[in-house]
Amino acid sequence: MATGQAEVKPSNGVLGAEVSGVDWGGGVEDDTIAMLRRAWLDHQVLIFRKQELSPERLIALGRAFGDLEVVETFSGLSGHPQIMPLVKEATDTLNVGEGWHIDSTYRECPPAGAVLYSVDVPPVGGDTLFASMYAAHEALSPGMKRLVGGLRMVHANGYLGDAAALEDRRSGLAMPVRTDVRVRTAEHPLVTRHPETGRSVLFVNGMVADGGMTSHLVDMTAEESAPVIRYLCAHASRAEFTLRVEWEPGMVVLYDNRCLQHNAPNDYQGHRREMWRLSLAGGVPAGHPGPGADPTGTER
Ligand code: SIN
Repeated sequence: MATGQAEVKPSNGVLGAEVSGVDWGGGVEDDTIAMLRRAWLDHQVLIFRKQELSPERLIALGRAFGDLEVVETFSGLSGHPQIMPLVKEATDTLNVGEGWHIDSTYRECPPAGAVLYSVDVPPVGGDTLFASMYAAHEALSPGMKRLVGGLRMVHANGYLGDAAALEDRRSGLAMPVRTDVRVRTAEHPLVTRHPETGRSVLFVNGMVADGGMTSHLVDMTAEESAPVIRYLCAHASRAEFTLRVEWEPGMVVLYDNRCLQHNAPNDYQGHRREMWRLSLAGGVPAGHPGPGADPTGTER
């Protein structure tokens, strides 16, 4: 796909595309932005290399794809609260984002997506992995689709209320975690419908237990929920649903949080890494009126 100089080349047959011929540091035409929006929906992850961006330009890029929100868990860049610097210092032992997850599913309206801009990358490691939850849903058997189509999950950010978990985190990561943030829970369907593409999404958050974001299935005990959650999380990160992004300085990655999990492995001990991150505001995830849904077709 191409508009003007812009070209979009798929990364693999499931998700991700490299975009060339776009300079976000200069002006980007409206028809190119419209084409990139379509490409984003088609490929779920867009990768732009060799971008030199001021905070203002990064914010303008983010606004081309949606409304920006200020993330509550970490402090924003001075003078630009929409930009959250994600920093692991060379002396830190923990990072942010290790483990498969969808961002902030403990909120009633999780973000629609996010933009990552690489400011400082380690000489080795520090990649980001993405997994398509469209592909994960498609690959389930008809019986499993019927089962999960009728279920809802409780998501929680309970670790913020857990002093020991926070202390552990503080001892390994210099980046301050805000402690004045409310502990919250939200219920979402286990199969959602993407609001723009209409496709079914396996809406699982792989951060389970011990400070994770997935709690249990609605109307089931933790013991009953655990095997189903464990199976779905293992299934959702199968290699054939994934893309691995290897960073270089000045790269932008735009990802769709409504149909992806992502994972930032902590495999670069002794090296510094800094990303600037924008969060795009999202809506309430709606259930898919498929097998297992309310026979009247009413969405919950
Ligand atoms: C995250 O947003 O979970 C972290 C992504 C990254 O740093 O690559």
